[in-house]
Amino acid sequence: MTEQHQEWNSQLAFIMAMIGSAIGLGNIWRYPYVLYSNGGGAFLLPYFISIVCMAVPYLFLEYAAGYNFKTSLPNMFRRVQSKFEVVGWFISLAPFLILTYYIVIIAWDFIYFFLSFYHGWGSNPNLFFTETLLHSTSSISGLGDIILPILGSLIVLWLIIWFISHKDLNDGIGKYSKVLIPSLMIIMAVVVLIAVTLPGASIGYSALFNPKWYSICDPHIWLVAAGQIIFSLSLGWGVVSTYASYLPKGTSLVKNGIVVTIANCGFEFFTAIGVFSILGYMSFVQDVPLRYLVTEGTGLIFVAFPSIFNEMGVLSYIIGPLFFICVLFAGITTTLSLLEPITLGISNKFLIERKKVTTALCVIGFLISIIFATGLGNTLLTIFDNFLSNFIVIFGIILECLILGWLYNIDKLLDIVNTNAPFKLGKWWNFLIKFIIPIVFFAMWADGIIKLIADGSTVAIAVEALITIIMIIVPVILTRKPPAPRNSK
Ligand code: PFF
Repeated sequence: MTEQHQEWNSQLAFIMAMIGSAIGLGNIWRYPYVLYSNGGGAFLLPYFISIVCMAVPYLFLEYAAGYNFKTSLPNMFRRVQSKFEVVGWFISLAPFLILTYYIVIIAWDFIYFFLSFYHGWGSNPNLFFTETLLHSTSSISGLGDIILPILGSLIVLWLIIWFISHKDLNDGIGKYSKVLIPSLMIIMAVVVLIAVTLPGASIGYSALFNPKWYSICDPHIWLVAAGQIIFSLSLGWGVVSTYASYLPKGTSLVKNGIVVTIANCGFEFFTAIGVFSILGYMSFVQDVPLRYLVTEGTGLIFVAFPSIFNEMGVLSYIIGPLFFICVLFAGITTTLSLLEPITLGISNKFLIERKKVTTALCVIGFLISIIFATGLGNTLLTIFDNFLSNFIVIFGIILECLILGWLYNIDKLLDIVNTNAPFKLGKWWNFLIKFIIPIVFFAMWADGIIKLIADGSTVAIAVEALITIIMIIVPVILTRKPPAPRNSK
């Protein structure tokens, strides 16, 4: 077998897959809270500045790298200098590990989708979520308690991911993204339209945008803005350069990048209005100040929203299932992208068919994700997430900027970005990639380390040490293994 690199059969397939990766939990459960709790309307200033000065330039870097090398991340870094192949494996492995718990959250959502038809979470959604569903404990003995509904839901989701991913690029990710993303946008539009007409909705969205201008003097808020947009656009995890490596010649990277950015940011802005309208409704009917209701993450989706649906009457049987299906679609398209960097890395280096690689990875991924379907799952998930997204991924981004910015030919990448572009980027782009972006990420990294140390329980330290060992050993093994011999034609 020879190395064959697939190509998207249309711009639309690429754009939908990219939007599919970008729109995920970060847009639905993270952005509204981040916006509200970091200055409301005033947060939009650091947010837009981060989009223009950090996220979009970095997005172009990943596009240009993928498009230029047209191969997997490990191969790409090896071509820069052979000793950097290991960095490519490191960056590709992180999203795979993240996938093993990200999919568990989608599995919870899948269960809630069914529960939402009859308010199966009962009158105390908090108790239901933490105890009845998750059997949540921080004791190691929780590992022996496998939660069957979660396991069942995980099996279904892994089968879906396998079914889509094992197919060729266009028959799998391309085709399903073209269906799931427009459906997600339509359903979310319906949810938001219902939400803004609820009594008290304006209490929510006006509080969301009420600007607290003094907050922009806090440097931490600027880091939060940069972190949010980088996460939301799926930057730094090797996904973007992998998807861009499938682009055919003659593509305008700038145009594509702008479409994806506008779609992602427009979606999160719009969703935030919906989420806060629903919270505003609750504040109105229960006469509770909004600030006591605002939350993020699992607390928002699996506790606050079910409590609100309990109050809403008949309408909740429509808006509830629609909301959980949005999270499901957003989650599935994101998980597909998390599997792709390592799939391409392995099939390119060892010349193994995509089908076999995805099948093996889905089995391994499923086995790992079982630990998150136990009583200790929620605790482990939080530790994995804090460590991987605050520490490992940001470290990868810094390495990528340094290697591509300093050790490869950054002018060549600039030329690639500017090919077929509706407007040209100047040398300032090089400056952002070489200096500004790594410095900001370094600050974020340091900030993340402080947070990690602050909540360093024994279990957390042990799990973090284990992840670190895996993140070193697996890339080293994959780098050392000789590539499969290439057929010469
Ligand atoms: N953009 C995704 C979200 O907002 O949930 C998270 C994510 C997915 C980050 C894929 C990075 C990535 F490679």
